[in-house]
Amino acid sequence: MSTATALAHPNIALIKYWGKRDVPRNLPAVPSLSLTLSGFQTTTTVVWGARADELLLNDRAGSDTETRKVMDLLDRLDPARPPCQVISRNNFPTGAGLASSASAFAALAVAASEARGGPPLTRRDLSALARQGSGSACRSLWGGFAVWRVGTRDDGSDSVGEPLAPAEHWDVVMVIGVVSTATKAVGSTEGMERSRHTSPLYPTWVAQASDDLEEGIAAVRDRDLDRLGRAMEASTFKMHAVMQTSHPPLLYWQPGTVAALHAVWALRADGVSAWVTMDAGPQVKVLCAASDASQVAQALQPHVVDVHTLRPGGAARRIE
Ligand code: PMV
Repeated sequence: MSTATALAHPNIALIKYWGKRDVPRNLPAVPSLSLTLSGFQTTTTVVWGARADELLLNDRAGSDTETRKVMDLLDRLDPARPPCQVISRNNFPTGAGLASSASAFAALAVAASEARGGPPLTRRDLSALARQGSGSACRSLWGGFAVWRVGTRDDGSDSVGEPLAPAEHWDVVMVIGVVSTATKAVGSTEGMERSRHTSPLYPTWVAQASDDLEEGIAAVRDRDLDRLGRAMEASTFKMHAVMQTSHPPLLYWQPGTVAALHAVWALRADGVSAWVTMDAGPQVKVLCAASDASQVAQALQPHVVDVHTLRPGGAARRIE
C-alpha cells in the first residue's frame, strides 16, 4: 500500500474549448488557451492498494458515475492496478460551472501516478492522463497561461496542455460572480456532442478556432489586456451562440448572468478594462487588472450570490 496527495487549481478558458474530434479519447475539435487560478483548489489523496475501490468526494461517498470516471482514469494509468481509495475535496462548489472537473482530474492524475510509484510520468503524460478524465483538466497541469492544441495523432499523444507563460507573467485577476451554485443541467460531453450534431454554427466555430487561439496567444505574450479581452469575449460569445443554436438549445445563462454582463460593460464604458467569459453554467467571470478587481467586484455584487477574486495560480503538484 502506498499513498500520495496532490493539489490542483481549476483553470478558466480565455479562448474556449467546445466540441470533440474523438469522444472516447477526449480529443478536442478546437484548441484552447487558459488561465490557472489560485484560491480555488482540489486536494486529492490516492491510496494505492485498499480493500476495495472507493471514492470519497467532499466527505460523502461518490455516486456510481463519479466513482466509475475516477476508477477509469486509474485503469488507464495501470490496467493491473490493485483496488484503490480516492479521497477528494474541493474548497469551492462542485459541478457548478466553476471548472471543478479540471482541478479534480489534474489532482487525481498527479496523486495516482505518485501513489503508484515506478518511473515518474512526464508532465505531458500526466496532462494526457488528466485529459481523459476531463478535457480541460489537461490545462491545469500547468500554472499560469496554458495552451491545449488539437494535435494530429489518432492516439491523442500530441493533444496535451502546454505552458505559455507562468502565473508571474502578468498581474491580472479573474473576478468570479457566482450567479447560482446549482449543478448544471447538461454536462459538457453531452452538450458538445449535441452542438456538433445540431448547431448550424458549429462548422464556422471550428474553422475559426486556430485564428482565435493565435490572437489570444499574441495578446498574452504582449500583456495586452484590451486585445486579450476582445479575443476572449469573441470566443465566449461564439461558443454560447453554438450552444444556444443547438437542438434542443443549451442556454446556460440565468437572468443574473445577463444583468452581470451589462454591469461589466457599463464599467467598461466608464474606462475600466474588464472583460467577461462564461462556461457551461451561469457564472460570469471577469478578467481585469489586479488594481481594478475591487471595482469589478462591486459592479457584480448586486446581481450575484457571491464574488471571488482569484489570482493566477501554480501547476498541479504533489503535497504529501
Ligand atoms: O473539460 P470539460 O469537459 O469540462 O469542458 C469544458 C468546457 C468549457 O468549460 C465550457 C470551456 C473550456 O475550455 O473550459
